[in-house]
Amino acid sequence: MKLLILGSGGMVGSALIREAHKRGYKDILQPSSRELDLTNQKQTHEYLASNTPTQVIVAAAKVGGIHANSTYPADFIYKNLMIAANAIEGSYQAGIRELLFLGSSCIYPKHAPQPMPEGCLLTSDLEPTNEAYAVAKIAGLKLCQYYSSQYGVKYHAAMPTNLYGPGDNYHTENSHVIPAMLRRFHEAKLAGASSVTIWGTGTPRREFLYVDDLASACFHLMAVESPPDWVNVGYGDDVTILELAESVAKVVGYQGSIETDTTKPDGTPRKLMDNSILKSLHWSPTVPLDEGLASAYQCYLKEEKGGNLRDK
Ligand SMILES: NC(=O)c1ccc[n+]([C@@H]2O[C@H](COP(=O)([O-])OP(=O)(O)OC[C@H]3O[C@@H](n4cnc5c(N)ncnc54)[C@H](OP(=O)(O)O)[C@@H]3O)[C@@H](O)[C@H]2O)c1
Repeated sequence: MKLLILGSGGMVGSALIREAHKRGYKDILQPSSRELDLTNQKQTHEYLASNTPTQVIVAAAKVGGIHANSTYPADFIYKNLMIAANAIEGSYQAGIRELLFLGSSCIYPKHAPQPMPEGCLLTSDLEPTNEAYAVAKIAGLKLCQYYSSQYGVKYHAAMPTNLYGPGDNYHTENSHVIPAMLRRFHEAKLAGASSVTIWGTGTPRREFLYVDDLASACFHLMAVESPPDWVNVGYGDDVTILELAESVAKVVGYQGSIETDTTKPDGTPRKLMDNSILKSLHWSPTVPLDEGLASAYQCYLKEEKGGNLRDK
């Protein structure tokens, strides 16, 4: 087995490499974005044709927070469409039979039923702030579905919920909720701040999955003989933002109070994946939130000390 991980330098790609080693893969191709620009069709097709992996995982994407997504929608749709199309068509032309594409829970409609089943895809409007990114990810999963049905290859997709863990991005404005909170509570502890204020009422419910659990789910799915076209990968349970903040404060050792700023928007009240298809395929997560947060915080401290904390 020769495995190619695209996006290997990212949070998900690094977790996939750890998991591949655990599972005994010896031959792992992991080109950086400098070696291989996936928006470049010629380069991507040539790389795939000359390296001929047996399996490909597409964990490369242009990702960003709400601000970046809504300010640069053209970049988000163009780059992510090109990455998906070049990786998938290039793999097919190179004779590669197995490919897993990573999407995101933002592919589902803004007002999807909760928990969100795979079948609610394309049933109503998307969340406008990340529509460009979501449309590109939907195109990616549809490419997999159509290549499989037309050419008989095993191309399929996994749709993860919010992820966190080693190698996360701790940018002060653009990061996701867990890295943002870990950093803010850590800095508040160091500064001896008496309180930390979180946006909104703290009541919205969100789901979080430790990135190593996602990597394990990806390899589990790849081992399924006829996997569904796309499968949700969630933790199966959610917490309120206030509960999350309390857990982060505990893990960090922050002793002050947690305030809510109710003048700030809450966002959608609940966003939870329906995990039942993945469960029926005999996979469940193993890292509870408290344990995952403790491990993520240790990684944050190590990355900060080593001067390699991602915050751009
Ligand atoms: N993080 C989450 O909470 C989350 C949740 C759901 C789904 N996902 C999905 O998981 C996948 C990976 O996300 P992540 O969190 O690991 O993001 P990440 O840490 O930002 O990693 C993305 C990777 O893609 C690479 N990349 C970007 N543009 C490229 C290009 N043109 N050519 C080659 N490589 C390119 C980046 O390389 P450079 O850094 O060198 O640019 C980086 O290694 C994405 O598809 C994302 O939608 C993530």
